[in-house]
Amino acid sequence: MKADQVLIAHHDVLRGLLRQLTETTDDQTAERSRLRDELLRELEVHTQIEDELFYPAVRDVSPLLSLAHAEHRQIDDQLATVMRTAVDDPEFGTEVRMLSATLHHHTFEEEERMFPQSHALGDERLEQLGRQLQERQEELYRSGAMRLIVRLKRMTLRLV
Ligand SMILES: [Fe+2]
Ligand SMILES: [Fe+2]
Repeated sequence: MKADQVLIAHHDVLRGLLRQLTETTDDQTAERSRLRDELLRELEVHTQIEDELFYPAVRDVSPLLSLAHAEHRQIDDQLATVMRTAVDDPEFGTEVRMLSATLHHHTFEEEERMFPQSHALGDERLEQLGRQLQERQEELYRSGAMRLIVRLKRMTLRLV
């Protein structure tokens, strides 16, 4: 799979989790916690593979990098707010919808603007980059360090 296809497939996972999360109600606390933890993990992995591999690779062919980095920071901030909000808090749904709106905007920008620009790298390079993204993604899923980062982040955010 080419790099942009790998990332679009993962965007579908993120959008799916956010959709499920927005469909939960205040009394579905266990389901909300489970979906929120899964979203935290997937977002960490996604941001990391883009920041580490994809964005540096498209630096010369896309003028959108600083905007994309700024949007990653905004997503991170909004995710932190979602992590700090109790799952049965009446504000939880609003915070999730705001995060969802930012993420939809960001993935749309990537899919409609940055990814088409990345095609200038050529098919061969995009296939190679796609393999690197998938390998790194698998490595992060298996990685104990990643699990620890997610757990620490979850604990720290909830304690703030
Ligand atoms: Fe991104
Ligand atoms: Fe992305």
